Amino acid sequence: MTTLRGLDIWQRLETHRDDIQRTDLRGLFRQDAERFEHFSGRLGDLLIDYSKHLITKETLRLLRELARQRQVEALRDRMLAGDRVNVTENRAVLHVALRNRSGRSMSVDGRDVMPEVAIALEHMRQFSEAIRTGAATGFSGLRMTDVVNIGIGGSDLGPAMVTEALRPYAQEGPRVHFVSNVDGAHLTETLRDLNAATTLFIIASKTFTTEETMINARSAREWFLSASKDSLHGAADTTTHIARHFVAVSTNEREVRQFGIDAANMFVFWDWVGGRYSLWSSIGLPIALAVGFERFVQLLEGAHRMDEHFRTAPIEDNLPVTLGLLGVWYGDFLGADSHAVLPYVQYLERLPAFLQQLDMESNGKRVDREGHRVDYPTGPIVWGAPGTNGQHAFYQLLHQGTRLVPCDFLVGAQPHHAMAEHHESLLANCFAQSAALAFGKTEAEARAELESQGLAADAVARLLPHKVFPGSRPSTTIAYRHLDPTTLGTLLALYEHKVFVMGALWNINSFDQWGVELGKQLARRIRPQLERGAAPVTSHDGSTNGLLNFVNAFRALP
Ligand code: F6P
Repeated sequence: MTTLRGLDIWQRLETHRDDIQRTDLRGLFRQDAERFEHFSGRLGDLLIDYSKHLITKETLRLLRELARQRQVEALRDRMLAGDRVNVTENRAVLHVALRNRSGRSMSVDGRDVMPEVAIALEHMRQFSEAIRTGAATGFSGLRMTDVVNIGIGGSDLGPAMVTEALRPYAQEGPRVHFVSNVDGAHLTETLRDLNAATTLFIIASKTFTTEETMINARSAREWFLSASKDSLHGAADTTTHIARHFVAVSTNEREVRQFGIDAANMFVFWDWVGGRYSLWSSIGLPIALAVGFERFVQLLEGAHRMDEHFRTAPIEDNLPVTLGLLGVWYGDFLGADSHAVLPYVQYLERLPAFLQQLDMESNGKRVDREGHRVDYPTGPIVWGAPGTNGQHAFYQLLHQGTRLVPCDFLVGAQPHHAMAEHHESLLANCFAQSAALAFGKTEAEARAELESQGLAADAVARLLPHKVFPGSRPSTTIAYRHLDPTTLGTLLALYEHKVFVMGALWNINSFDQWGVELGKQLARRIRPQLERGAAPVTSHDGSTNGLLNFVNAFRALP
C-alpha cells in the first residue's frame, strides 16, 4: 500500500482544506481585489483564469511543495530525455518529439528520433498534398472526394476531434469520415452515400491487431472491391485498386502487409507514442487531408509552444502544473469524483470524449508505479458537453446538486462566423454560468427577489429553499482569441501535460492501459458461442449464460 496521507505536506494540506471549507468564493474575492490577476496566467493568445477556485495563495504554496516533494519536475525531465517512464510496457514516452520544432535532438536509447519524425512528416506532406490537389487519384482517374478513417480509441478520438475543431479550415479538402465502432451500423451508414471510385480508406491502428478496427477494415475492403468490381479484370487490378484506395497508419509493418497494404502505403510511428497521445504522429493523417499539411504543422507548433512552457517555466508559473495541482486538490482533498468539460464552442463538441480517453485511460489506476495499492483517489470521471446545450440538460446538478463538480469552461473571443448576436449570447452565457456557480444566490437575495414579485409570506417561505444557489462551485475558464490550429495545439498540449502532472503526483503510470485487456479476453471466449445454432451456453456465470441464450434464441429466428 502506498500512502500519501502519511506525508507531512499531505497532512498540512488536509488542515488547510478545513480552513478553506470555512470560507467561500464570495469571501475570497472580497478579500483580494486583484484575485483575477493573482490567479490567472497567459501563454500567447490563451488565458487561463483559475481565480474561481477554492484556493488561496497558501493553497497553491502547499500544493507546489507537494509537487516538489513528489519530484514532478524530475519525472518530466526524464520523460523528455526519452527514459522508459512507461515502466510496465518498458517504453519511452516521447510524443513531445512529434511536435519538437526547436531543432534540438530528442533521443530514445541514445538515438536521435528527430530525423525519423521528419521523414514521417514529409511522407504525410507529400501524400496529403497529392490527394488534396488531385495529383493522386482513385482507380478511375477521379479525384478523391471522401476519406474514411477506420480506427478506434487513440486512433480515432484525437483525429476526429481535431478535424471537427478545425472544420472552418476544411473547405477545400476531401470530406473526412471516421468509423470506429464495430457495430456494423457505423460503417454501413458512413459508406451509404460514398462512391468507391473516389473514396480513400485509412486503416489507423498502432498495433494493427485491434479487433474492431480489423473487422471494419476487412468489411470496408469487401465493400470497396464489390463496388468497384466492374473495373476489376484480374488479380493485378485488385492489388492496384487496393494500393490506390487503402493506406495504413501503424507501427506494425508485418500485419499491415498481411492485410494486403504495401509498405509504401504505410505511414509509420513508433512504440514511444502512446495511442491517446498519437494525433501528432501519422495518426494525424486525416487532419492533414482535411485541412492541409501546413495547418497540421501549425497544430504541432501550437503544441510545441506549450511543451516549451511546460519544460522551462518554474512551478509557480507553470500552467499545466497549476491545473494538475488543482485536479489533485479537488479529487484528493475536497471529494470531487468528476470533472466537467464545457466548451462554449460547437467546434469542440468532441473535446470531452477525447479528454475522457486522455485522462481516464491515463490516470484510471489503483496501483502505483511499483505495483502497490494506493490509498488515495486517482483520476476523475471526465465528462461534458458543449454550452449552451448543457445548460438545458445537466447544469441543474452543477448548480444545486449535492456533488462538487469542478468545471472547465472554454471560449473564444473571435468566432469563425459573422453572426455577432449569436456570439454575444454565447459569451454572456459562458461568463454567467461560471459566475453563478462561483457566487450563487444567498437566502437573503432569493428572499428579496421573491418578495419583490409580490408573493405572500407563506409562498416565499415554501419556495425559498428551492431558489437558493449555494455557490462556491469551482471552475477554470480557458479563453483564447480564435480557435485556429495553433491555439488548438497549445490547448491540447496543456491538457496532456496536466494529466501527466496528476499521474506524477500520484506516482502512477499514466502511460499503460492494462484495464482494457480483461474485456478483450472474455470477448474472445464469448464470440464462438454467438454462432447461429450454438447449443445452449452453460460455461459462464448465470447472467452471461442467460444473456447469450436470450440473444441466440432470437438470432436463430429468420
Ligand atoms: O482501448 C485500448 C487501446 O489500446 C487504446 O489505448 C488505443 O488507443 C486503442 O485501443 C486502439 O489501439 P490501436 O491503435 O492499436 O488499434
